[in-house]
Amino acid sequence: MNAEQDHAPHSRSRPFGAGILDEYRTFLHTALRHPTMVGAATPTSSAVAATVAQVVPSIGEPVVVELGPGTGSLSGAISTRLPAGARHIGVELGEELVEHLRTHQPGMEIVHGDAGDLLVLLDKLGVHRVDAIISSIPWSLLVDDTRLHILRQCTEVLAPHGAFTALSYLSARCSGSGKHFHQQLETTFDEVLTHTTWLNFPPLMHYICRRPI
Ligand SMILES: C[S@@+](CC[C@H](N)C(=O)[O-])C[C@H]1O[C@@H](n2cnc3c(N)ncnc32)[C@H](O)[C@@H]1O
Repeated sequence: MNAEQDHAPHSRSRPFGAGILDEYRTFLHTALRHPTMVGAATPTSSAVAATVAQVVPSIGEPVVVELGPGTGSLSGAISTRLPAGARHIGVELGEELVEHLRTHQPGMEIVHGDAGDLLVLLDKLGVHRVDAIISSIPWSLLVDDTRLHILRQCTEVLAPHGAFTALSYLSARCSGSGKHFHQQLETTFDEVLTHTTWLNFPPLMHYICRRPI
């Protein structure tokens, strides 16, 4: 990120017209080739993005990490809330999605990597404390050990006042792995809240978790 980007207003809203077609095309292309990595057929709606972004601090110089930003459907709403001097880091596994993000979310620092290597990736960026983690990786499709491995790294780097969020389809929450993920969150954090957004297809819920135990 250059100095001009660093101080530029962090506002990038969802694209319209040809932009949104490009976003959907890129998302679908990756989803068809790597269905379990993406775990969704379309990007998340802006209604969800607006709600999820509420955990992002709008004062100070926060560091916010997005795990699995995809085409950036949550990133614009997050960036809009961030004050000057904030850092907005995205860790994304899909190569094509990384290229898309680098073009369309210039205020973000995009890391092409695996959330399973979170601490190493953040260390390379000189980041050892994070104020908010917004995760939309397909948690319920991960095996238990992988899920726990990523979750532990999130809690290790999260500031004491920080918030961790995880998105999940309502349907996934009722599956065996969805229930197990919920239990893992309950035993990992002192506070676990849920919020459902119906203006998404399919309806989507997200966990808001604070104070790792
Ligand atoms: C359900 S999509 C969400 C994309 C976007 N945030 C949204 O809400 O529309 C999941 C995203 O997580 C990425 N992903 C999956 N596993 C990952 C991992 N281990 N590390 C980083 N990104 C991952 C996928 O490539 C995909 O972009």
